[in-house]
Amino acid sequence: MKLKGLTIGIPKEIMKGEKRVAATPDTAAKMLKEGAKVLVEEGAGLGAYFTDEEYEKQGAQIIKDPCDLYSKADIILKVKEPQFNQSKGKHEVDMMHKDQYLITFLHPASPENHDMVKKLAQRGIIAFTLDGIPRISRAQSMDALTSMSTVAGYKSVIIAANRLGKFMPMIGTAIGMIKPANILVVGTGVAGLQAIATAKRLGAVVQAVDIRPEACEQARSVGAKVIETGIPPEAAIGEGGYAKHLSEKWLNKEREVLSDIVPQSDIIILTALVPGRIAPILITDDMVKIMKKGSVIMDVAIDQGGNCEITEGGNVVEKHGITIDGTKNIPGMLPVSSTWMFANNIYNYMCYLIKNGKVLITLDDEIAPSSLVTYNFELVHKRAREAMGI
Ligand code: NAI
Repeated sequence: MKLKGLTIGIPKEIMKGEKRVAATPDTAAKMLKEGAKVLVEEGAGLGAYFTDEEYEKQGAQIIKDPCDLYSKADIILKVKEPQFNQSKGKHEVDMMHKDQYLITFLHPASPENHDMVKKLAQRGIIAFTLDGIPRISRAQSMDALTSMSTVAGYKSVIIAANRLGKFMPMIGTAIGMIKPANILVVGTGVAGLQAIATAKRLGAVVQAVDIRPEACEQARSVGAKVIETGIPPEAAIGEGGYAKHLSEKWLNKEREVLSDIVPQSDIIILTALVPGRIAPILITDDMVKIMKKGSVIMDVAIDQGGNCEITEGGNVVEKHGITIDGTKNIPGMLPVSSTWMFANNIYNYMCYLIKNGKVLITLDDEIAPSSLVTYNFELVHKRAREAMGI
């Protein structure tokens, strides 16, 4: 009975367009079996097609008022970072209390989340961010970022294809051959590789850019033509084989290379990320100006600030005749698959943190310290502190 004596709260997500939920009736049943009490906000699962009755059937309690749910729970499991609840006139952080645990995606290094994470620290909330879980084999079953990036890579191409006023594949017609669309994928980690594979399945011509040779190799293996940036591996690869934040000199070099490809690209999928850092700006305002009118940019890296200089976080805008999509919750647009993956990842992570009904923060283990954001009234997340200049 791992979770004995604990009350776990599952609020309804309030971000616009967010349809995911942090627990399915199945994962709620697992929590109950491990001895927890599970509180689910009324209607929390509806976006992913789970009714209140399905949760109740498993033994969960449905709570009408989110303030009530936040006040009663020891642990809050959420999909998106806390935000202002319009209908309650209150920020979700203000509904929380000292020594309460929060597990969610916080993206604490992203500038727009700085005030919110500082507030979590001030209120004595112990917060963990799922984007801090290292990509090691032991943590694979908890790695919600990988799951969500898989969804985002796939869905970003589907959305872009829908917005584009052209066919994706080559189409033979009675009046001649229509050329396939040209797709450029920048950053070929989990999301980028899934984007390449999806664009190839739709018949597009795909070019890709990454600064890690290993990522380039993987992009080739799923069918993309890789464009060399000329950035030496020692400038590009950092701790643990992850990408390094490039110096301004190398970023400029990369922008120059990209400037040659951008004018022919119908769709640009941006997923370049250095873990825990603000995303590098790789497409500037001037580069958007040289794109073909009607082209589409999907700035998937928007949670870390985005890879395009003029993306508006959370909005879809048209600038210089180009649609620039800064949708923040792409996985929320595929709620069934993404909820199933997310709910199982967060359940596994919570079980990793808890022993005999107590949350144990094992600082000599790689997983907990890298995902811990606020503890003992302090902001402890290294990359977030760096981003805030602390
Ligand atoms: P990842 O770490 O697997 O991949 C990022 C890739 O970017 C790496 O291969 C890295 O080498 C590359 N990179 C770093 N700097 C670069 C540069 N200067 N030029 C070219 N490539 C560079 O990350 P993952 O999981 O694929 O996530 C990518 C992005 O997608 C993240 O920003 C993540 O937050 C975002 N995401 C967004 C969602 C949304 O709804 N908008 C949902 C899920 C993920």
